[in-house]
Amino acid sequence: MMPDSTVRLSYERHGNGFPLILLHGYPLNRTIWREALPFLEDIADVILPDLRGHGESPVPAGEYLMDTMAADVIALMDELKIPQAILAGHSMGGYVALSLLKMYPTRFLGLGLVATQAAADSPERRQGRMETVEQVKKNGTSVVTDAMISKLTSKVELYPQLERIMAGASVDGLVGSLLGMAGREDARAWITQITVPTLIASGGKDAINPRERPEEMATLIPKSWWVELPEAGHMPMMEEPQATGLALRSLVISTLAKKPL
Ligand code: MLT
Repeated sequence: MMPDSTVRLSYERHGNGFPLILLHGYPLNRTIWREALPFLEDIADVILPDLRGHGESPVPAGEYLMDTMAADVIALMDELKIPQAILAGHSMGGYVALSLLKMYPTRFLGLGLVATQAAADSPERRQGRMETVEQVKKNGTSVVTDAMISKLTSKVELYPQLERIMAGASVDGLVGSLLGMAGREDARAWITQITVPTLIASGGKDAINPRERPEEMATLIPKSWWVELPEAGHMPMMEEPQATGLALRSLVISTLAKKPL
């Protein structure tokens, strides 16, 4: 299926150096990365977009194909005149990152996959998402946000910040993302062909994405290394910002060491 037309993403930009684009997960926004920035902004031009349907970006109706969200990111890179970047994605942002690597392999020199997976939804998960779509349409966004917070992290001190972030969720944004995630492809068949340095980072206590998922990506992606943060859950950049920031820093350094001058 051809991606729908792109939307103009809202973003923020911090630091100096080679472009590093960080994509947030669902139903979150770009601010999840803020605590990790001090470990990155002296070596990277860090670009934090809000994906469509999230944060301050436009919220179109309809299904958000991962390929369409990916095309939005390419449109932002083109607008900012960034021919090539290092890319990292968290959870749903990781699905979008894989789509970007597949569709636009020459635009990305390094890849970070944070608390995410290459597998598609199981039939049960897909069914669950469809039921959530109906509930969100009927009862509003709190159906998702109330149920999700304790799955994101067990660190209750992060709840006020996460509640503020998820308060920005909209019915169309949630529905579009749920439909898009439910329909995403199984990327395990092709990630063996990724040739760029790839960081896989995960929390040892992730209640959403079990340990087998990062492990199988580390097995399949040739130039990958896996950093597991034993005490983190699904939000390692907020739960352990220093360790996550330094892992991303190692991705930038490894990528630039291999980049032809
Ligand atoms: C996310 O954190 O982006 C989502 O929970 C991912 C998913 O539901 O598959």
